[in-house]
Amino acid sequence: MNILVLNGSPRGEGSNTLKITRAFLEGMSSQREVSVDLVDISKADISHCRGCFACWLRTPGVCVIKDDMQHLIQKYVGVDVIIWSFPLYYFGMPSKLKAFLDRTLPINLPFIELSESGTCRHPSRYDMSGKGYVLISTCGFCSVENNYEALLKQFEILYGENLTKIICTEGELFRAPQLEKRTGEYLSCARQAGREYASSGSITADTAKKLSQPLYAPEVFIEMANASWGIGEPHDTENN
Ligand SMILES: Cc1cc2nc3c(=O)[nH]c(=O)nc-3n(C[C@H](O)[C@H](O)[C@H](O)COP(=O)(O)O)c2cc1C
Repeated sequence: MNILVLNGSPRGEGSNTLKITRAFLEGMSSQREVSVDLVDISKADISHCRGCFACWLRTPGVCVIKDDMQHLIQKYVGVDVIIWSFPLYYFGMPSKLKAFLDRTLPINLPFIELSESGTCRHPSRYDMSGKGYVLISTCGFCSVENNYEALLKQFEILYGENLTKIICTEGELFRAPQLEKRTGEYLSCARQAGREYASSGSITADTAKKLSQPLYAPEVFIEMANASWGIGEPHDTENN
C-alpha cells in the first residue's frame, strides 16, 4: 500500500500533528506492508495557482508552472492513501497547503456535472475512486465547535465517504514532557486507528470516540495553556 503524507505544518518534524500521524503510520505498518512518502509542504517549492485554466485547455492535465507540483501531483494521483497532516490555522488549513490544494486543479476536468442533490462538481481526469483520504489535524483551542466546521465541510465536500478524520484539540500539550502519560495514551489510540485503517479502510466507532475526547477538561486545559506562556494576562489592549 502506497501512502503519501502531506505534512502541512511549518514546524516540519517538530509538528504536534505529525506525532499523531507517525503513530497512525506505525499502526498501519504493523498490519501490512506500506511504503510511505512524507512531503514537507512548507519546504516544497509550490507557487500559487495563477487561475489561467491552461491545465484545462491549452495543456490538458498539465500546469504551466514548473515547480515541485510537477512531481507532487503525480504522487497524489498514483498512491493508494493520502494523509493530510496539518495544524488548524484560522479555522482552515495553513496557506502553503492551500496552495498545494489549489494546484491539484489539473486532476479535474473543466466540465460541470450536476449531482442528484442538485450540487455541482467537476469530474476527475483520472480514476480516483479507490483512493483513501485521511485527515489528521491538531489545534490550539479545546473545542471542535466554532473552530473546525469550515475545514471539515471543505474535506467532506472534497472526499465524501472516502474520508477518515482524526481531530485532536489541545494539540500544544504534545510539547509538554510532563503530560506524556496522557498524550501517550492518545498516541496509542492513534496507533490502534492505524491498525484498523490498514485492515478495513476505516476506524471503529470506539477508537474514533476515544480520539475525539479532549486530552484534558476545558477548565484544566485553559489554566495550563494560559500559564504556559509565562506572561501575565493582559488587562487592556496594547493600542489603548
Ligand atoms: C497562524 C496560526 C493560526 C492558528 N489558528 C488556530 C485556530 O483557528 N484554531 C485553533 O484552535 N488553533 C489555532 N492555532 C493553533 C495551532 O493549530 C496549534 O498550535 C497546533 O497544535 C500546531 O500544530 P503543529 O505543531 O502540527 O504545527 C493557530 C496557530 C497559528 C500559528
